[in-house]
Amino acid sequence: MDAQAERPSGALVSPAAARNVEPILTRLRAHLPRTGRVLEIAAGSGQHAVAFSTALPGLEWTPSDPSPEARASIAAWAAEAGPTNLRPPLALDCLDQGSWPTQDFDALVCINMIHISPWTATEGLMGLAERVLPAPGGLLYLYGPYREADRPLAPSNAAFDDSLKARDPAWGLRDRDEVVALARAHGLALTLRAEMPAQNLSLVFRRV
Ligand SMILES: C[S@@+](CC[C@H](N)C(=O)[O-])C[C@H]1O[C@@H](n2cnc3c(N)ncnc32)[C@H](O)[C@@H]1O
Repeated sequence: MDAQAERPSGALVSPAAARNVEPILTRLRAHLPRTGRVLEIAAGSGQHAVAFSTALPGLEWTPSDPSPEARASIAAWAAEAGPTNLRPPLALDCLDQGSWPTQDFDALVCINMIHISPWTATEGLMGLAERVLPAPGGLLYLYGPYREADRPLAPSNAAFDDSLKARDPAWGLRDRDEVVALARAHGLALTLRAEMPAQNLSLVFRRV
């Protein structure tokens, strides 16, 4: 343990991930199958992977992230507190088809990635979902902030969008309708839009 930060050595801490575990878990419980295989894209620190795999013991949970630091953090949290249904992290990059797994999954979970990556990563994510999810019924769960044509953008999300674009002009909040249209082109239909704390959305898609 890193005594100063009170966390396993190499483990990252995301305060946002800690805050949104419970509201996201409530949605996942409602929509994920009780048993099966889940692939988490862009798992980041690994706090979600440990929390969700612990709370959903019937699921085999495989986290992934292209960042070596993230994978080290996921492995560190898993060594400290991971259940047996949590698999080692994969080096999966939505932009690199060569890194995509060849096995199928019952569900994909992707939290807070599509606005912190170029649009091509969202295109890759949808291509991956089309490839690895069973049709019909395979589930894609997205969480994050969106622009919505029929609703005003919250000031906090407008400021967040500005800050993302200042870090990288290719980043930024995505238009929900564009994401839904892209998903549709990859055989995924939107089945749920749910408002979440802090001006975020849960979007649930199913393979058709
Ligand atoms: C803001 S973090 C979110 C992490 C975690 N899901 C959470 O909610 O705490 C964004 C993550 O997206 C990952 N990411 C960025 N580009 C990606 C890509 N092309 N494919 C997969 N993951 C990517 C980053 O490595 C990073 O871990």
